[in-house]
Amino acid sequence: MTTTRFPEGFLWGGATAANQLEGGFDSGNKGLNIADVLPGGKERLTVLSKPGFNWEIDKEKYHYPNHLGIDFYHRYKEDIALFAEMGFKTYRMSIAWSRIFPNGDEREPNEEGLAFYDRVFDELEKYDIEPVVTLSHYEMPLNLVKNYGGWRSREVVTFFERYVESVLNRYKDKVKYWLTFNEINSGIMMPVMGLGFAIQEEEDRYQPTFQAFHHQFVASALAVKAAHRIIQGSQVGCMLIYAPVYAYDSNPENVMYAHEASRFFNNFCGDVQVRGKYPAFINHYFKEHNINIDMEDGDLELINQGTVDFISFSYYMSRTERKEKTADEMAQGNMIGGIKNPFLKASDWGWEIDPTGLRVSLNELYDRYEIPLFIVENGLGAYDKVEEDGSINDDYRIEYLREHIDAIGAAIEDGVEVMGYTPWGCIDLVSASTGEMSKRYGFIHVDLDNEGNGTLERKKKKSFYWYQNVIKTNGEEL
Ligand code: BG6
Repeated sequence: MTTTRFPEGFLWGGATAANQLEGGFDSGNKGLNIADVLPGGKERLTVLSKPGFNWEIDKEKYHYPNHLGIDFYHRYKEDIALFAEMGFKTYRMSIAWSRIFPNGDEREPNEEGLAFYDRVFDELEKYDIEPVVTLSHYEMPLNLVKNYGGWRSREVVTFFERYVESVLNRYKDKVKYWLTFNEINSGIMMPVMGLGFAIQEEEDRYQPTFQAFHHQFVASALAVKAAHRIIQGSQVGCMLIYAPVYAYDSNPENVMYAHEASRFFNNFCGDVQVRGKYPAFINHYFKEHNINIDMEDGDLELINQGTVDFISFSYYMSRTERKEKTADEMAQGNMIGGIKNPFLKASDWGWEIDPTGLRVSLNELYDRYEIPLFIVENGLGAYDKVEEDGSINDDYRIEYLREHIDAIGAAIEDGVEVMGYTPWGCIDLVSASTGEMSKRYGFIHVDLDNEGNGTLERKKKKSFYWYQNVIKTNGEEL
């Protein structure tokens, strides 16, 4: 398959998040964060979402894979050298807020944490790899969760602002691209990781959720304004989890249902962060459901002034909806829901594979907002087998990525402006939803199992060489 569709300077690379790869969870004066109390195993999100969950580490009962991650904290030089060997132009990573402000509410940042990311950025610079940095990727300091109620609290906006200003000032000569909140809209389905609280049993789900979103919107606008003020030429993106919603059939009732599901999940946050105002459909929803958002004077102006420069998003799957559905026809997937689509195959974890859905997503987003788009997550979580000769022949991953990159090329031909592509988990890391190591996304294999056994040795998979050539030919050879 050949193509010449990708613009010069297209940002090819890979993506990770601090809590899933760094390890060193208590090194360098780092404080605990949400991810540090996430147990390993498929039930991790269920455990965490239970009302009354005490946010404590219980080593008697659980294993905590994020504590070791893949030990990037000590092996970043080796890993970055491998990224460079693949030809990465960019690397999307996150800063663990709790390395910089261990409890979140201190006045002064932690020098050891700041120095660690200095070393990482210097290493990237050595290879001319442009960092794209997520400010908050499911890593809120635990103290803010336990003692302030996470993003329910207005005070957290001030703490976040202090953290953001610290890292912007410190890295102003090293980092140009910033993302605010990872998959911000995931809070609609799963407030625990992104918004830092569980819904209590007696509580209405949406009132606290939308209040917390409001605080994040204010915080995001402050971050955009600060970045523009502190770093000339910086660009800040929002980060959405995007899944185009298909109606199961042409029944107008189902079409309307799919439309509503899409704007509620896919568009609400982007509308605020890109257009700078709450969309009419959400204001209507608030009224209908008696949701009252506490706002301070000036919040709406601030949100209006602090709009993002580009949209970044994760794409793993589409979603198929019908108004009436039964439990046994539900599809599995990244917090998204929906019913099984008979036209699609699914991954080993039941996530439906739909490359065309990525082209649809790019077109939908560009039609609505007309600002540059950046796919900062996409990929196939799969079981890999290390052969006796040490090779890892992940042709299924190559096929998945080839089809998705081809879909991006098609969207570019449709007229969509795409800045770059950073597939998720470019090096194997801990899964966010299940805590497993066996759910692997990487071009680079890490010798580590679900129980934490292994040498941590890095090995290049077949996809490593394939992606290296994709980058070398600027997407011409897939
Ligand atoms: C996204 C997250 O939802 O999906 C990542 O931003 C996550 O943190 C990725 O790892 C893949 O999900 P999982 O559950 O397979 O790790």
